[in-house]
Amino acid sequence: MFKSKISKETGQNFQSVKGKVAIVTGASRGIGEAIARVFGENGMKVVLAARSAEAGQHVADEICANGGDAIFIQTDCSNDVSIKNLIDQTVAHYGRLDGIVSNAGIGMGGFPLHEYDMNNFDEIFALNAKGVFAGMKYGAEAIFKSHSDGGFLINVASVAGICPQRGQALYTGTKHAVIGMTKVAALDYAPYGITVNAICPGYTETSIFGDAPEAAMEMFRKDCPANRLGDPKECAYLALFLASDMARYISGAAIPVDGALSAGHQNVSQWKHPEIITGNGLNRDSTIASIVEDPKGLEIVNKYLPGFIENPMVKQAYGMTFPAIAPMMGLGEEQLDALLNELDTLA
Ligand SMILES: NC(=O)c1ccc[n+]([C@@H]2O[C@H](COP(=O)([O-])OP(=O)(O)OC[C@H]3O[C@@H](n4cnc5c(N)ncnc54)[C@H](O)[C@@H]3O)[C@@H](O)[C@H]2O)c1
Repeated sequence: MFKSKISKETGQNFQSVKGKVAIVTGASRGIGEAIARVFGENGMKVVLAARSAEAGQHVADEICANGGDAIFIQTDCSNDVSIKNLIDQTVAHYGRLDGIVSNAGIGMGGFPLHEYDMNNFDEIFALNAKGVFAGMKYGAEAIFKSHSDGGFLINVASVAGICPQRGQALYTGTKHAVIGMTKVAALDYAPYGITVNAICPGYTETSIFGDAPEAAMEMFRKDCPANRLGDPKECAYLALFLASDMARYISGAAIPVDGALSAGHQNVSQWKHPEIITGNGLNRDSTIASIVEDPKGLEIVNKYLPGFIENPMVKQAYGMTFPAIAPMMGLGEEQLDALLNELDTLA
């Protein structure tokens, strides 16, 4: 039976990852690069895998130059033989394997399902799904043979694996496959202390967006409740946590790193009390809620608009301002000016 590994020495910090041997695929740039760097900075022995020898070797060299321990192994993650070779070479070099982050993946999309070709399917499933399967399969075998007592499989899926995205039939299909395999492997390996989890990035600032025009990037930013793109490091810190002893009881999870993108649909939402953020005092631009909840504000409103707050429709407009609903109030120009000027005296 595998007991909790939380101890005073290593349980409450990232010391427990020190010396663990981990592979990161797609580590020459983007999220994979960030994960490899964060692993290296925290004392893990990192094997970077990617197709581009120059870029991958460069990242490995920089990790070593900063005091880390890393090697690069050129790998085509859409080829299972190449992945098997990656695992074998890792074990030959470091003598063991504790974890693998299957991150390499491509995007593909923007069309209705019928407009994809059959070879689009083969291309994306070969890397994003079969490549991840091979990483998990050969990775798990090597972790077992290493008798790792803190083994982990981490797959980089996507919010598209949780919440399907229009125009992304194949990409979404691959990411659902990754999350499905993650959950089943978690069940398979939980009795043996190997954790299996998926990181689900939202819109994250990497080259996966290629040459997307600024207008498209702005649309992605606006689509995200956090109003920004993610930083690849924000996924890397989760990977570090999942690799540590602090996360040994977390398995089978698909964890979004997405600024709340996959939490639900956006809708109209008016803050009745934006001053909680802005710290602004009361004036004509304050919400109706803030004004009528202030005794002096209520007095002014009752003076110009008797019966106003008893109107049930007004409750719907509590997040709006008096200038915004001016046309509905039926006040003459002079009276409206007087009301707004008096509201300005409230601050
Ligand atoms: N950036 C995002 O917004 C975002 C959102 C959701 C999910 N993801 C996922 O995150 C993962 C990483 O994406 P990224 O944004 O860092 O992309 P990226 O294009 O910046 O990096 C992809 C990495 O994968 C490598 N790679 C590509 N094909 C490969 C192959 N056949 N063999 C080996 N390596 C290969 C590239 O060399 C590179 O290192 C992908 O699985 C992607 O689906 C990214």
